[in-house]
Amino acid sequence: MFEIVETRQLTPVTKLFEVRAPLVAKAARPGQFVILRVHGRGERIPVTITDAEPAAGTVTVVIQEVGATSKMANALQTGDGFHDLAGPLGEAATLRSSGHVVCVGGGFGAAAILSILKGLQPMATRTSAIVGARTAELVILEDRLRAVADAVHVCTDDGTKGFKGFVTDRLEQLITSGEAIDEIVAIGPMMMMRAVARTTAPYGIPTLVSLDPIMIDGTGMCGACRVTVNGETKFACIDGPLFDASEIDFDELVRRNKTYRDEEGAALERYDVAHCHAERAAAPVLHATAGS
Ligand SMILES: Cc1cc2nc3c(=O)[nH]c(=O)nc-3n(C[C@H](O)[C@H](O)[C@H](O)COP(=O)(O)OP(=O)(O)OC[C@H]3O[C@@H](n4cnc5c(N)ncnc54)[C@H](O)[C@@H]3O)c2cc1C
Ligand code: FES
Repeated sequence: MFEIVETRQLTPVTKLFEVRAPLVAKAARPGQFVILRVHGRGERIPVTITDAEPAAGTVTVVIQEVGATSKMANALQTGDGFHDLAGPLGEAATLRSSGHVVCVGGGFGAAAILSILKGLQPMATRTSAIVGARTAELVILEDRLRAVADAVHVCTDDGTKGFKGFVTDRLEQLITSGEAIDEIVAIGPMMMMRAVARTTAPYGIPTLVSLDPIMIDGTGMCGACRVTVNGETKFACIDGPLFDASEIDFDELVRRNKTYRDEEGAALERYDVAHCHAERAAAPVLHATAGS
């Protein structure tokens, strides 16, 4: 059991967990991930290591609810534990020692870029973060991003905070303003990463994206996470998750990620029904008494 020592609800569907995992914390490098299970018969889900504190023996992960397992995970509280947590997995990011790196994060990606920004902090590299959300209340970890990045650009679709528009709009503005950018790293929903790739391609700026295909073992054995990069088959769990965005077959990736959509939908429905029954059973029963 991996004890959860702290939790922070970041948005109604996004939760931060600080988990006691000393060996993982000691070995973790920016860009790597863990695979965890909520209970002994549960599904294995990959999540990025947002932060690692070797001295405290803890790692931080941020989970966004999209289906049954992520919902189950986010129901856990401080003092609970993850049944297992394997890692660190994947290749660490290669950190540039100079120039200007722009990290783009959407959804859980705003948390996932933290480890890379933190890794770049001691270098001579200038760093900018561009993070986006639908509306102001859904912007996450702005305080922690500001602590590690030289500049933070917050974007909201509705303009309630920072720049009004998508992260790609702000990124393009930054590029066309003449600001020198040597590398872009994007983490978040597949459609966002694809849009970032399309934005940067005309300018020829090296762009890395952290791919999130379906994963099972995370050790290169099962083949579930295979992706086509520059015409070659790669396994995102051992060759990635970071890849050159210009070389990725996004169409194939999007198709493959839809493989189990029906099963995932059914699992979510089962979870919601079971959860609803459990809540009803736990609710206090109100009895009408005579004269009340
Ligand atoms: C290397 C890696 C790092 C990741 N890091 C994080 C992280 O830090 N935080 C976090 O919240 N999530 C992260 N993810 C995604 C996370 O693993 C999935 O959201 C999770 O496995 C979903 O499990 P579920 O059972 O809740 O939902 P499922 O039942 O598996 O999926 C529900 C629905 O969500 C969508 N969905 C699920 N997984 C994906 C995906 N991988 N790509 C696109 N759409 C998807 C699909 O529409 C699907 O039908 C990462 C994935 C990878 C591969
Ligand atoms: S998850 Fe099985 S090969 Fe990558």
